[in-house]
Amino acid sequence: MTNNLHPLGQSILDRAEALARFSDMEGGLTCAFLTPAHRSAQALLAQWMEAAGMQVRTDAIGNVIGRYAADAAAGGDARVLMTGSHFDTVRNGGRYDGRLGILLPIAVVGALHAAGIRLPYHLDVVGFAEEEGLRFKTSFLASSVLAGRFDPALLARTDADGVTMREALAASGLPGNGELAALQAAAVDPAALLGFVEVHIEQGPVLLDKGLALGVVTQIAGSSRFQVRVEGQASHAGTTPMGMRRDAAAGAAEMILLVEARCSAAPTLVGTVGQLQIPDGSSNVIPAACTFSMDIRAGEDGIREAAIADIVAGIQQIAARRGLSAHVDRVRPVQNAPCARWLMDQFGAVLRKRGLPAFELPSGAGHDAMMMQRITDVAMLFVRCGNGGISHNPLETITAEDAQLAAEVFVDFLRHFQPQG
Ligand code: GLV
Ligand code: MN
Ligand code: MN
Repeated sequence: MTNNLHPLGQSILDRAEALARFSDMEGGLTCAFLTPAHRSAQALLAQWMEAAGMQVRTDAIGNVIGRYAADAAAGGDARVLMTGSHFDTVRNGGRYDGRLGILLPIAVVGALHAAGIRLPYHLDVVGFAEEEGLRFKTSFLASSVLAGRFDPALLARTDADGVTMREALAASGLPGNGELAALQAAAVDPAALLGFVEVHIEQGPVLLDKGLALGVVTQIAGSSRFQVRVEGQASHAGTTPMGMRRDAAAGAAEMILLVEARCSAAPTLVGTVGQLQIPDGSSNVIPAACTFSMDIRAGEDGIREAAIADIVAGIQQIAARRGLSAHVDRVRPVQNAPCARWLMDQFGAVLRKRGLPAFELPSGAGHDAMMMQRITDVAMLFVRCGNGGISHNPLETITAEDAQLAAEVFVDFLRHFQPQG
């Protein structure tokens, strides 16, 4: 489908639709790390990058990286401005989360290339292979490799089928075969970077409510994820009196309500239990075990840490009162990531020049930029999310008009970009 009013924006939407055809599920979009659908999406991104005029490589974790080489006048030691986002998805997710931040720069590079315009720096467009943590319950796996922050313990982590990350990487045919040395060697040299900028759908209702297409992100909320296992005792559902039960699921239910209550107690603090299981449960057996995930975030690390301390203590108290045991396993937390004022100001200047407000907002969602912020300055451009701002849901949407405007603003940003200092 073409939309002559917003050709660049429409082409981005069309490509998001084409990419969404690769899915691990029927009737919806799930694209987990290194599944056949994920590998197909990666190959198509590489193809589009090449067609747009980039040199493309794939690294040891599966990131696809296209370079739009600097103008020859910049010389051999030109530095790199990096942009990108992730192409994996949550289960039954939306088609723009992450992918917009790859497809938009590809479209922009294609337009620059067609117009014969080069930039005075290398522009690297990264399709990050994994951000959502769906398969291995990681967080920011692919950007952690690029940022030189890969946790070697993850190689032994298993997916739901018992396949380790090392095995999945070795079977994938990616360079390095899942060897730790190859993953470590895939880190970029921070000294070569001018910064990292990420375009992303807002995934919330703020821009929609304000009637604005675009916003500049001030900071990205830190997050902590946990897996909790509660253990009690299996016994007969018909014969065990209510006062004599050690019901792991009832205990977990009380713990989940504690998460909800404690995370309602401070602005920006949020807590979610998105996975809940009764392993090997039967309708007529009191649950012997119950497992659940916890995701806790806040705009300030101190607020998040205080909530976590209360919740973990509360879980143990609930377990003790009910004759249960609770094991809380913490996945490595990601701290709050501030965006760099000098980069934000350059996005702001471009917006103002177009007569648009340089509206600034924090991000409650996590992004690859958080991990990149550990090694370089970062900024993010948010694009309005339709349908009430819903995301991590197939209803997630953007318009061709907003995608067009975001692409034009990104072109202006790139062409006027001034390295710091
Ligand atoms: C990523 O989408 C996250 O914020 O969990
Ligand atoms: Mn997401
Ligand atoms: Mn995302």
